[in-house]
Amino acid sequence: MKIKKWGAVVACGALVATLGLFGCSSNNSSSSASSSAAADNAAAEYTLMKEGTLTFATSPDFPPFENLDGDEYVGFDIDLAQAIAEKMGLECEFTTIQFDGIVPAIQAGGQADVGISGITVDPDRAKSVDFTDPYYIADQSVAVMKGGEVTADNVDEALNAEGMIIAVQSGTTGETFAQENFPNATVQPYGNATDAFAAMQAGQANAVCMDKAVVEKMLADAYTDAEVVKNVATGEEYAVAVSKDNTGLLEAINKAIAELQADGTIDDLTTKWLS
Ligand code: ARG
Repeated sequence: MKIKKWGAVVACGALVATLGLFGCSSNNSSSSASSSAAADNAAAEYTLMKEGTLTFATSPDFPPFENLDGDEYVGFDIDLAQAIAEKMGLECEFTTIQFDGIVPAIQAGGQADVGISGITVDPDRAKSVDFTDPYYIADQSVAVMKGGEVTADNVDEALNAEGMIIAVQSGTTGETFAQENFPNATVQPYGNATDAFAAMQAGQANAVCMDKAVVEKMLADAYTDAEVVKNVATGEEYAVAVSKDNTGLLEAINKAIAELQADGTIDDLTTKWLS
């Protein structure tokens, strides 16, 4: 299902209207005020599903990166996506796709231009899509309900046992991490990241393996009766996924990310969402 965020579009659109012409001013091919900055940008030619709009696929089950507040998309990635679109003189829209469907959807095209969803750069995925330069470094955490048999002292052994169930999000690095580190346990994938936590709380799983900042946020906001028993510095890099047929778009987003890094926007977003 495609969800259009008109609120965000209007906000972005106003900026586009204000900045659109200036956005093209460094480019000597800019002559038309009626077409979008993107269409005029000869330095990086790219195609968009919808002219003047950058459509991001996201799986909004992953606070503080992407989440729904009512029907509004919120989080670090959401702010970053809007800032990228703004730098490119484009409006931005989001469409919800379950995480394990995002890379295939970007590869296939037609549902979104790019994916932003705490997506870790990974060689397998890079066979299907291109990745922009990274914008965040992530680690993995293992959480359990407090007071159970698995503790920080015994987790490596206690969780790696037959009959132990580890809840993960389907198709994530957390799933691979759990399979590799706890090969004797049963790794149970859930489509939605929040369902993995709900399963653990309901006693259907003994642990959750997921990106550290997300585990910390989930525990702080909703699962105060759970605790982290293991952190592993996997050093995963989050990046935006772009179709291999759209290298101009890859370049343009990389340029926007570089600018957002240089002007302090990404630092500000890190402070806003991750501290
Ligand atoms: N970083 C992990 C991965 O790339 C998990 C990302 C999950 N993102 C989400 N929005 N649920 O596999």
